[in-house]
Amino acid sequence: ARTWVFACKVEDIRLQDVRRWEFDGHSYAIFRSPKGEIFVTDDICTHEHAHLSDGYVEGHTVECPRHSGRFSYMTGKALGAPVCINLRTYEVRIEDGAVTVLVP
Ligand code: FES
Repeated sequence: ARTWVFACKVEDIRLQDVRRWEFDGHSYAIFRSPKGEIFVTDDICTHEHAHLSDGYVEGHTVECPRHSGRFSYMTGKALGAPVCINLRTYEVRIEDGAVTVLVP
């Protein structure tokens, strides 16, 4: 069953940055945009094994630390070679500064 799970506080993530969140054996990346919106995707790149939470956030994109593939963390869209498979995204809710994620 899908469940809402508390992940972290909004203030734990700097603007235009990302934080890794491990839950139930799965690794998620929680992004905070330059304007402060929160988005959640899978943390592992769809190209090879690399943690996007170790990558570089610029605007609304993240660059993989391994081969510099880029994704939109808002939609999960792969933005060009070498990444061609979109990232999975997750629904998120913010309540009283708490980030809660709908996990599958
Ligand atoms: Fe991410 Fe290759 S592992 S671009």
